[in-house]
Amino acid sequence: MSKVYDIGVLPGDGIGDEVVREGLRVLSAVEEIYGFQTKRESMPYGADHYLETGETMPDEAFDRIRDMHAVLLGAIGDPRIEVGKLEFAIIAGMRFKLDLFVNLRPIKLLHENLCPLKDKGPADIDMVICRENTEDAYCGIHGFLKKDTPDEVAHQSMMYTRKGVERIIRYAFETAVKRGAKPGADKPQVTLIDKANAVRAQDIWTRVFAEVASEYEGVATDHQYIDAACMWMVKNPEWFDVAVAPNLFGDIITDLGAMIQGGMGIAASGNIHPGRVSMFEPIHGSAPKYRGQNKANPLATIMAVSMMLDHLGETPAARTVEDAVASLLQSGKVKSLQAGAHSTSELGEMVEAEIRTAVTS
Ligand code: IPM
Ligand code: MN
Repeated sequence: MSKVYDIGVLPGDGIGDEVVREGLRVLSAVEEIYGFQTKRESMPYGADHYLETGETMPDEAFDRIRDMHAVLLGAIGDPRIEVGKLEFAIIAGMRFKLDLFVNLRPIKLLHENLCPLKDKGPADIDMVICRENTEDAYCGIHGFLKKDTPDEVAHQSMMYTRKGVERIIRYAFETAVKRGAKPGADKPQVTLIDKANAVRAQDIWTRVFAEVASEYEGVATDHQYIDAACMWMVKNPEWFDVAVAPNLFGDIITDLGAMIQGGMGIAASGNIHPGRVSMFEPIHGSAPKYRGQNKANPLATIMAVSMMLDHLGETPAARTVEDAVASLLQSGKVKSLQAGAHSTSELGEMVEAEIRTAVTS
């Protein structure tokens, strides 16, 4: 009996259904090759569903997902809906309600032509950002006083728990151990990124990081304030191996990271609770202007499928997908990762062809 995985498929808004369709094409190809199956349940949540029904994402949907192995999400966000409403209910909803405390964002340059930085190549850009995913300014603790008056006050809390900080830092160290030392380094390295010099509550990150680090003699450590980290990631990306950051700074620095690996067309992420149902998505948004035009680049979603396979324990299939994308980009057949350079379906077909060639040769 082959293994069967229950997968929730949530294409969402804008270009979501087009990029997810190509992700599923690639998933089907590796299922056939590696002899496992997925039972896919399509979930309609997003702007259209909200406009039709008034429902964002109901509790029953989260209950269904708790019984699944993974969710593949396309993108959420639509100009017809109040800013943040669907993002909060669906993306943050899943992260918080399913306790997906790791936002794993690999940044790997697959071909030097994709990098906007001068004189940097694949050997320089190979890092993993572990973004905390359930705390910080994202908790939604905010408010307004005297709204719309000259005396208005607005506040939002950046909140960290001992448990929340420790588990993501520990995950980062475990990731470093698993990755091993980078070529030329003695040890793998974890960099803590924070702003504890200004956001004093982040002192908890400093203390917990030091404590956890003391348990990992085989892992080197580094620390950078977020502003400096933005600078060094552009100037010396080779200094980064594994980095760990609070939610908001992790959000910001991974867009920067996406650009140095070739842009939003290729950057994927996993929202993970180890050993439990987890959610995988491209980092990019819903790009409403490209909706329905077969122009969006599906490679980020395809890379998210690779991360999902890894989470499911289908590691050879995950590697095959990642290697296929890498060899496609190295072949020079992909002109550019910009939307419209190739059609969405064409890129999906190219990855599938690459996979089939790789496994038969
Ligand atoms: C991301 C996105 C989300 C975030 C938005 C859509 C709420 O930017 O996944 O990086 O800030 O986490
Ligand atoms: Mn973001």
